[in-house]
Amino acid sequence: MSILRTVVRGVGSYLPAEILTNADLVKIVDTSDEWIVERTGIHARHRAAPGEYTSDLAVHAGRAALEHAGVDPSDIDLVVVATATPDHTFPSTATEVQARLGIQHGFAYDIQAVCSGFVYALATVDAQLKAGMARRALVIGAETFSRILDWTDRTTCVLFGDGAGAVVVEAVESDGLVTDRGILASSLRSDGRHRDKLWVDGGPSTTQTAGHLRMEGKEVFKHAVTNLADVIEVLFAETGLTGADIDWFVPHQANRRIIDATGRKLGISPDKVVMTVQDHGNTSAASIPLALDVAVKDGRVKRGDMVMLEAMGGGFTWGAVLLRW
Ligand code: ACO
Repeated sequence: MSILRTVVRGVGSYLPAEILTNADLVKIVDTSDEWIVERTGIHARHRAAPGEYTSDLAVHAGRAALEHAGVDPSDIDLVVVATATPDHTFPSTATEVQARLGIQHGFAYDIQAVCSGFVYALATVDAQLKAGMARRALVIGAETFSRILDWTDRTTCVLFGDGAGAVVVEAVESDGLVTDRGILASSLRSDGRHRDKLWVDGGPSTTQTAGHLRMEGKEVFKHAVTNLADVIEVLFAETGLTGADIDWFVPHQANRRIIDATGRKLGISPDKVVMTVQDHGNTSAASIPLALDVAVKDGRVKRGDMVMLEAMGGGFTWGAVLLRW
């Protein structure tokens, strides 16, 4: 029986020009290259220029994905931007992107699930495409975390970077087989009891300021590996696949130690893990499509490969998407 399946048609990304190395951060806070590399695996991150906004990053990444897909903006009827650092409280950054890409039909909205934003967006768009609400979507993760970092707090400012990544997805008729292309399964979770372990201490309704990121790093670390492994196991149970069936594991790029531990727990071989955290830092909702773009463009991820995406972030929110590229 024929069903609708959401297939990725193209991917693109954008990084701001300025690169901040660990050596640059040593001049700002009391830290060292050794500490940052040993605890996180991060060597460098990008930072948006003054006057360069989340929507600018998103438009660059969106255009790159459209070009890679060979799709004209006029063929997109849904734009979703996953971001925790929108240009404005409202309207959504997605409407800004929609206008700048010249798209005048369909609909656009932002998704806010912090570092899990891209996985939330992809799973939600998958459901909307299958329901017939749209046919072809541009799904973007875009962040300027440099704007909400406390640059005097060494426990957080060394971890994050700015950037954007995007995919073009479309609904196609499929026999629904595991061997067919597209999103096979997804699972989203949250547990708001942990909302104060990774949060921003400002907002329109509370302080009327954007605020700064605050985090209990050890608590986040403790929950991350367990939560991520659990949600991936759900997808394995649903599809009958195992870690050995995964061609490429493309996790949220927060921390090398979290990624290594999750891969080990799931039996995914280290040479199947796409790692970009060393060059990008944690770019929150942008990190997965940024990593995907790197691995597709350098020839690692190929058509027909089985790809597992996963992320966890503030809330806590977490989730995973399993797809055949
Ligand atoms: N440079 C040098 N020393 C530092 C720095 C720094 N940048 N930051 C903290 N320290 C010091 C601390 O002050 C502490 O010193 P003390 O022992 O004298 O008090 C010492 O290093 C150890 O600090 P911890 O916080 O215990 O270090 P830990 O080993 O837990 O590593 C880290 C911290 C890297 C943040 C870790 O907890 C972690 O990776 N957590 C996950 C956080 C994360 O990835 N968040 C991203 C968002 S959520 C997500 O995307 C999954």
